[in-house]
Amino acid sequence: MAKILDGLKVSKEIKKEIRADVDKIVAGKRRPPHLVAILVGSNGASMTYVNNKIKDCKEVGFKSSLIKFSSTVSEAELLETISELNKDKDVDGFIVQLPLPKQIDQEKIIMAIDPRKDVDGFHPENFGKMALEMDTFLPATPFGILTLLERYQIDTKGKHCVIIGRSRIVGKPMSILMGRKDFPGNSTVTLTHSYTPHIEDFTKNADIVITALGDPNFLKGEMIKKGAVVIDVGITRVEDNTEKGYTLTGDVDFESCKEIASAITPVPGGVGPMTRAMLMKNTILAYKTSVY
Ligand code: GUN
Repeated sequence: MAKILDGLKVSKEIKKEIRADVDKIVAGKRRPPHLVAILVGSNGASMTYVNNKIKDCKEVGFKSSLIKFSSTVSEAELLETISELNKDKDVDGFIVQLPLPKQIDQEKIIMAIDPRKDVDGFHPENFGKMALEMDTFLPATPFGILTLLERYQIDTKGKHCVIIGRSRIVGKPMSILMGRKDFPGNSTVTLTHSYTPHIEDFTKNADIVITALGDPNFLKGEMIKKGAVVIDVGITRVEDNTEKGYTLTGDVDFESCKEIASAITPVPGGVGPMTRAMLMKNTILAYKTSVY
């Protein structure tokens, strides 16, 4: 039976550490860090994510602001808001919740964010720095996974890490970070995606499997090697007859994989809360590198 990698517990520890840091800042008569979130439209998952980010800010003692736009907002309007936030000395970091409506060019929006305030780590300048092992904001989900591996002292050196999914938010940056020279890295990485034939041929040979494809219960126990470490980034709302009307379901078939794996993240309570904590970490980093 695999060890459960308790992201909820670790995220609480991290938020406590950040809170202690903020308390010291405020006791020194300085203003607290300030995070702004931009939400466009009313996608249920996006609204939940953003509300949780605002809740986290309160918990760690940050100032937070939420800017909401209707789904019909123009690209120009959004760019104008970003330009204002870039200039605003009271704002340390901001995020534009993705995905954005079709009429808006996502890359144009990301490119407009001042890289020093890009606490999502999505700007190409920050992505490039990440790839080159320079100090920068790491995207929150991969950063959360690394931190979870680190806190559970999971050895990644020389291991074969198979990642499923090549999104700009998770799979792609994760594939770079796992191969970096700093701990936890130094893995040999295989990045698989929708055009990879017979994914199980890869996952069966993996010491670490990271799934980020959004296909509920995709990874079965028979697809992994005995003792593998399994990290589940997937979190899909699967509609059912429960009170909420859906159940959050990961990419990993937890029941069959937990019998084979040596360590596994649950959904919910694994990677999700770690992602949230890392956004707080990036925001205090932005504060410290701008205000002081
Ligand atoms: N949509 C899904 N995950 C994320 C994230 O980490 N940041 C932003 N801005 N949008 C997202």
